[in-house]
Amino acid sequence: MELRLFASTGVDLPIVGQGTWNVPEHGAELSEAKRALQRGIELGMVHIDTAEMYGSGRAEEIVAEATAGVSRDGLFLTSKVLPSNAGYEGTLRACERTLNRLRTSYLDLYLLHWPSAHPIEETMRAFEKLVADGKTRFIGVSNFDVRELQAAQAALRTERLVCNQVLYHLRERGIEAELLPYSRAQNVAIVAYTPFGRGRFAGSERGGILAKVAAKHEKTMRQVILNWIVRDAAVFTIPKASKVRHVEENAGAAGWSLDAEDVAAIDRAFPMHYDGTLATL
Ligand SMILES: NC(=O)c1ccc[n+]([C@@H]2O[C@H](COP(=O)([O-])OP(=O)(O)OC[C@H]3O[C@@H](n4cnc5c(N)ncnc54)[C@H](OP(=O)(O)O)[C@@H]3O)[C@@H](O)[C@H]2O)c1
Repeated sequence: MELRLFASTGVDLPIVGQGTWNVPEHGAELSEAKRALQRGIELGMVHIDTAEMYGSGRAEEIVAEATAGVSRDGLFLTSKVLPSNAGYEGTLRACERTLNRLRTSYLDLYLLHWPSAHPIEETMRAFEKLVADGKTRFIGVSNFDVRELQAAQAALRTERLVCNQVLYHLRERGIEAELLPYSRAQNVAIVAYTPFGRGRFAGSERGGILAKVAAKHEKTMRQVILNWIVRDAAVFTIPKASKVRHVEENAGAAGWSLDAEDVAAIDRAFPMHYDGTLATL
């Protein structure tokens, strides 16, 4: 799996990782979802994204179960505190619960899931304490626009935000207007969530363009979609796949590049629209 320097961390991270929202929680589908996570790790997709919100904590437990046989330092585990649980004491307590469910003594990255009514200064103070106490190596945010990101950055004294996890896919390119240039300049990585955009791409004229690009590179449309997302050095992505064959396909999105002609054709088919607000799910 292709690696790339993750902002200011000094860590090389796989450009395609693994998400865990809506991971199946029961029966044969759960068993396959765990096998899919394990297969992804074998293929180098060691950046695993979860959150206390997902399955009310169950997704974190499933990550722990799936990774039980994997050496901890071979993984990059990200989780997120719910805005309603944020603030100083709330964040510290939420992180403790997350660590217990993940059965680990530290996170690699801890994020505030979206902007919170708790003062950002309090949550950032807790984040800095968690780094100082060795409970997380790095900190970041999610669903923050430029103004919110600046406020969070200004609230920090000793640490830096290393990433902002945001919605980004072919039909939702708004971050390219402001957030991406700002993040690049500030050396804050973008982690693109919902990279497939819940859309069907085959069958339409626009899907035809993706199919053509895919055929040219002997890749699939899904691989083209993910490769397009990570074409910018500041952008990483975390598709969620609970099927082994899906994970294997997604792993093939890395290690090659679209050329300028492909990017121009995709640009024409999926133009950028921006109404001045950050799109979220
Ligand atoms: N920070 C936030 O607010 C936020 C919001 C949303 C998501 N996220 C994170 O981002 C991750 C990804 O986003 P997402 O789960 O919303 O959407 P996504 O990754 O764009 O799409 C997931 C869907 O695509 C399917 N899929 C994956 N690979 C496939 C393939 N190769 N062929 C066919 N289907 C494939 C999956 O099916 P199977 O599962 O059946 O394989 C699943 O139904 C989440 O899991 C979560 O970790 C963060």
